[in-house]
Amino acid sequence: MRACSIIGVVLAGGLALASSSGADADSERLVISVGADALPAARLAMAGDAGFEVLAADDEVAVLSVDEAAIDALSEAMHAQHGRCGGFMVHDSLEEALAPAVVRPADGPPIDYRLDRPQVVRSVLPAIEAPQLLATIERLSGMKNRYYRSASGAEASIWLRDRWRSFTTRTDVTVELVDHGYAQRSVILTIPGTTRPDEVVVIGGHLDSIAPGGSNSQAPGADDDASGIATLTEVARVLLARDVRPARTLQFIAYAAEEVGLRGSLSIARDYRKRGVRVVGVLQLDMTNYQGSDRDIWLIDDHTDPAQNAFLGRLIDAYVGATWGTDRCGYACSDHAAWHRHGFPASMPFEARFRNHNRAIHTHNDTLERSDKNVSHAVKFAKLAAAFAIELTRAELGPSPAVAPPPPTPGAATGPAVWLAIAVAVLAFVASLAFALAFGRARVRRGGVAP
Ligand code: BES
Ligand code: ZN
Repeated sequence: MRACSIIGVVLAGGLALASSSGADADSERLVISVGADALPAARLAMAGDAGFEVLAADDEVAVLSVDEAAIDALSEAMHAQHGRCGGFMVHDSLEEALAPAVVRPADGPPIDYRLDRPQVVRSVLPAIEAPQLLATIERLSGMKNRYYRSASGAEASIWLRDRWRSFTTRTDVTVELVDHGYAQRSVILTIPGTTRPDEVVVIGGHLDSIAPGGSNSQAPGADDDASGIATLTEVARVLLARDVRPARTLQFIAYAAEEVGLRGSLSIARDYRKRGVRVVGVLQLDMTNYQGSDRDIWLIDDHTDPAQNAFLGRLIDAYVGATWGTDRCGYACSDHAAWHRHGFPASMPFEARFRNHNRAIHTHNDTLERSDKNVSHAVKFAKLAAAFAIELTRAELGPSPAVAPPPPTPGAATGPAVWLAIAVAVLAFVASLAFALAFGRARVRRGGVAP
């Protein structure tokens, strides 16, 4: 059974209030919100926190002041007592915790979800390589953990930044770290848009992993969420290799600290809203490599945007050729909820029905062996994410696809030039044979004998 976070739906994320008496010197006080049904369990679990306080509560949600150092204990107690998972969000302030759930940014023109880039999508999808996905999952899950406060969690950010930087020599493409005030940093790769650079499409997943034991834990997080990071990494690689030029700006984001209250994504989404960044669509890839149900891809329909979800269904039918359905988490289960809360259209295609999800997550058993060693499930999500990126950014193929067309498969794709060469060779052979025979007979008829 996986360990879980606090029960119930909840709100947004953020930083410290006053420092806590008697708390770990390194820790800070957080404003969090939990489902109101989880309040008694939260009280019990936080009995040792002298500063624990219920700042506000109604029938649905309770806003609490808690010691950051107690979050893991609280999470485990909630799981033990309720036997189900929920989410919680870490807020910037009490005011933000109490703000309405979705603050729509200033209305822009409606988003056009037409599918009219088939030639670009079909040129890119064959470049997706399962071994590349596999290598990323193996590399990330080979780290001790990617906990947001650990040294290896910090190293994961650096490793990913360098990996993403290796995909291109283009100077207009940037890969940067975002500092949130703890060890792990989020990573953002930006391909600037050619004609609509102020409109942004985001594809993301979370870089952190978690298991009992925090910084000292063995938390491979192969499915949750090395699989999502590997999926978006492969999409970034192929788009850059094929020199795809998005009209809208395209960003790939590996969020820090999702497992402890969507902290990285909330901080980025809040910042984008405050700066008025026009985010036209967000795709969250969290757990893509465990086929737990009868259909392939499940579109999560809570804390997401219905119109964009419908667009994803059409993309799957047109380009992925996978089966799909809709389902829900029932709470703010991943980073899509942070974007949704800040008013941006977000979607989360998921690996299974919620009730069939990979039970090894949040334990030391979340390994590649327990998900899909062939990564064939994750490949479907990579195709979907590439199609999403190309269609929603209205991308074109650039002048110099750096990747040569794939070599012909032996015995299969024999091109017309090869057939022509074979035909010419056969004809030449037949002609020379006929000539030799005719010439030989003539010599015999004339009574000549070869020397
Ligand atoms: N990947 C999970 C979310 C998830 C788990 C979705 C199982 C669907 C099925 C995510 O990393 C996670 O663990 N989220 C937390 C909530 C978060 C707000 C701390 C959870 O589910 O407890
Ligand atoms: Zn998780």
